[in-house]
Amino acid sequence: MHLRPLAAFLALGVLLGLLASAGAASPPPVAGEDGMVASVHALATRVGNDILRRGGNAVDAAVAVGYTLAVVYPAAGNLGGGGFMTIRFADGRTTFLDFREKAPLAATAGMFLDRAGNVMPKAGLLGYRAVAVPGSVAGLDLALRKYGSMSRRQVMAPAIALAEKGFKLDEADAAGLNEAAADFRKDPPSAAIFLNHGRPYRRGDILVQTDLAKVLRRIARQGADGFYRGPIAERIVAASRANGGLLSKADFAQYAVREMRPITCSYKGYVLYSAPPPSSGGVALCEMLNILDPYPLKDWGFNSAKTIHYMVEAMRHAYVDRNDDIGDPDFIENPVGRLLDKGYAAAIRAHIDPDKAGNSRDIGPGTPPHEGSETTHYSVVDKAGNAVAVTYSLNNFFGARVTPAGTGILLNDTMDDFSEKPGVPNIFGLVQGKADVIAPHKTPLSSMSPTVVTKDGKLVMVLGSAGGARIITIVLQTFLDVVDYGMTVQEAVDAPRFHHQWKPDKIFVEPFAISADTRAALERMGYTVTQQSPWGDAVAILLGGPALGKTVSGYCCFAGVDDRRAARY
Ligand code: GLY
Repeated sequence: MHLRPLAAFLALGVLLGLLASAGAASPPPVAGEDGMVASVHALATRVGNDILRRGGNAVDAAVAVGYTLAVVYPAAGNLGGGGFMTIRFADGRTTFLDFREKAPLAATAGMFLDRAGNVMPKAGLLGYRAVAVPGSVAGLDLALRKYGSMSRRQVMAPAIALAEKGFKLDEADAAGLNEAAADFRKDPPSAAIFLNHGRPYRRGDILVQTDLAKVLRRIARQGADGFYRGPIAERIVAASRANGGLLSKADFAQYAVREMRPITCSYKGYVLYSAPPPSSGGVALCEMLNILDPYPLKDWGFNSAKTIHYMVEAMRHAYVDRNDDIGDPDFIENPVGRLLDKGYAAAIRAHIDPDKAGNSRDIGPGTPPHEGSETTHYSVVDKAGNAVAVTYSLNNFFGARVTPAGTGILLNDTMDDFSEKPGVPNIFGLVQGKADVIAPHKTPLSSMSPTVVTKDGKLVMVLGSAGGARIITIVLQTFLDVVDYGMTVQEAVDAPRFHHQWKPDKIFVEPFAISADTRAALERMGYTVTQQSPWGDAVAILLGGPALGKTVSGYCCFAGVDDRRAARY
């Protein structure tokens, strides 16, 4: 099995086995001296670290990693998708860039329904109709212009070289591409790139992306206009029109990044900055933390029946609010103040029966969630203490699995994150309401949660995750595993997880997350427990030491990166 995270670290730091407090079977976190980049792909991590070494700041490195992942990790790294960036500057200021996709101007609320009003299976997932207007290039370009210190050419040169000269596929790269091979075969421009003369790629083959290199060169010369105006947008629009999609030149010309204030909340003295609407991530994360704040989770024990009971009830309530109340702030009034009020959290706590599972029928629609491991997160900290958390995505791995000819750009299937029909589940089994119905130029609700944590004004953690609907509970558990259970940052990323999203009314557990007697105790309380995998990859940087309170001089940061994706192959 190929250990990608180990490779992902080698470019940036040293494995400090002796310094780790590890009591579990995780490898020690990797230490960085003057700054750190942590991503799921070694080549992207190396590019980010080179930018830091050459004097670039965290935003320069984040932009370079964003473009590089679009080349070396086409499953989720992208130019054809969108995402979020949470930034905390060394002086304590924070900001948030929303470069998530928007529905085409021609989109309509019922566009994925058949004549009988039923959702057409997979219509929102595969092919050009599933594609929303991409935002990644606009987001990366704005971040660099406003907060970076290097030129576009400097930060994009490594991605261009990797696309042009190619890179050697490892086992996980090849296996990832082969998961989508049947869909690539149906789209000749995708097949020409992501299949090797019609056959699956194998470990050790070189993936060259000549068209993508040309697109990247154009963006390096012209900035976002190189993508949103002129031949690239025209090619995407032409392919969309020829294949039943809705994208128009006006969609590209009108795309604009939103800059907002992050959602913020506190938990046991830690202050969190995370994604505001159109993400549900920050709101749901903070709502769960508000509910959990007074509970002695540490005393109750990691993944004990009691801990899981209270955490699941917090998840249940937060996901009802997430699914029903949150949406694009340009279209709906998000009740953020009400949901994050500490009194609201207290009222929810008062409803939790200490001995009995709650019941989702009593508090608010659902079907089985599909597995979600798409999307990707990366974290950056520079020498000055600037921190950048980026989560961006094509939605499903490889998005809609279509590539407009001559562009090399895989396009997203993020239209499925809309509520295609209120009350009917999307790919993640999320049953969303009217706040997230499709409208022209609207952004679909997201769970992406790039998060920065501070304490007493000092940077503590930079984290986020892939995982669809589970992103929020993965970020919650990674944070709590460090703060409440004293795990190293790598142990926290590795620790087996559980998830509840209101409906279906089940606790999903990762293999080995709970013992047979814990499961029996939960079932006696009235819970249904279902084992499921895979889960999304988390990526976290912890400042100062491998675990809280274990400061190591000479090193700024320690990283934990998930091996779950690579381990599947
Ligand atoms: N596409 C997954 C999310 O934004 O939540």
